[in-house]
Amino acid sequence: MTTPPGRRLVVTGAAGGIGRAVALQLAGQGVALSLFDRNPAGLAATADAVRGVGAPDPLIAVVDVSDRDAVAAALGMAAADAPLDGLVSAAGVLEPGALSDTTDAAWQRHFAVNTTGVFHLLQHGAPLLRDGGSIVVVSSNAARVPRTGMLAYAASKAATSALTRCAGLELAARGIRCNVVEPGSTDTAMLRELWTDAGAGVDGAVAGSPEAFRVGIPLGRVGAPEDVAAVVCFLLSDAARQVTLQQVFVDGGASL
Ligand code: NAI
Repeated sequence: MTTPPGRRLVVTGAAGGIGRAVALQLAGQGVALSLFDRNPAGLAATADAVRGVGAPDPLIAVVDVSDRDAVAAALGMAAADAPLDGLVSAAGVLEPGALSDTTDAAWQRHFAVNTTGVFHLLQHGAPLLRDGGSIVVVSSNAARVPRTGMLAYAASKAATSALTRCAGLELAARGIRCNVVEPGSTDTAMLRELWTDAGAGVDGAVAGSPEAFRVGIPLGRVGAPEDVAAVVCFLLSDAARQVTLQQVFVDGGASL
C-alpha cells in the first residue's frame, strides 16, 4: 500500500495538520515532495520533518491556492525535471457561520480556498501528471452531511467533492484516478479553533449534540491526522489502481 520511492507528488496545505501528516507518510516511502502552503514557518517545519525521515529534499512553495498564477508557477517548478505522479489537496479554511450571519466575504473566503483553490490545482496540475497518476482531494464529511453553523464551509466542500469527481471522469481516459477523502472531526489546529464553547472538545465531539443534530462518533474517538493521511496514501498508491471517482468518509462513523 505504499507509493514507490522516487515518485513525485505535490501536497497543498502541507504546513500542518492533515497535509503535514500526508507529507510525512509519503516521505517515509521515499517520495520526492513539493510542499505548498501559505504559511512559510509551518512549511519549513514540515520540510525539516521530511528531511528527518531521510526523504529527498522537498521543494517548498509559499502559495495561496486561491491565486491562480501562483499555483501555476509553483506546479511548474514542481514538474520542471519530470512529470508528477500525484497531487494531494489538503489546504482549507473553516469559519463557523449560520445562514443568518454568514457574510458575503466569509462565503467568498471559503469558496476561494476550499473550492477555487482545488480547481486551480487540478486545472494546472493535471497536464503535468503522467498518465496513470493519482489525485486525492481532502474535502469534509460536511460535504454530504448537513451541519449547523457551517453553511459556507459545507457548501464549498460539497462543490469541491463534485468538481474533483467531474475532473476524474475526464481524466480517466489518461488513467488518472481522482478520489475524495471526507474526514470528520480530526485533531488539528482547525478543529481546536472550533472548540471555544463549553461542552466542546474531544468529549463533546465524541458524544455528539442533539441540539446541533450531530450524532457523535460511533468509534468513540476523534481522528488523528495520520488516520486521514493513511487513507490518502492508500488512494495514491498502486494498490488503489481500480479506485476512482470515490468519496471516502474517514470519520469514525459520524456520517451515520
Ligand atoms: P489545518 O488548519 O491544520 O491545515 C490547513 C492548512 O491549509 C494550513 O497549513 C493552512 O496554512 C493551509 N491553508 C489555508 N488556506 C490556504 C491558502 N489559501 N493557500 C494555501 N494554504 C492554505 O487544518 P486541517 O484539519 O489539517 O485541514 C486539512 C483539510 O482537511 C482542510 O481542507 C479541511 O477543510 C479538511 N478537514 C478537516 C477536518 C478536521 O476536523 N480537522 C474535518 C474535515 C475536513
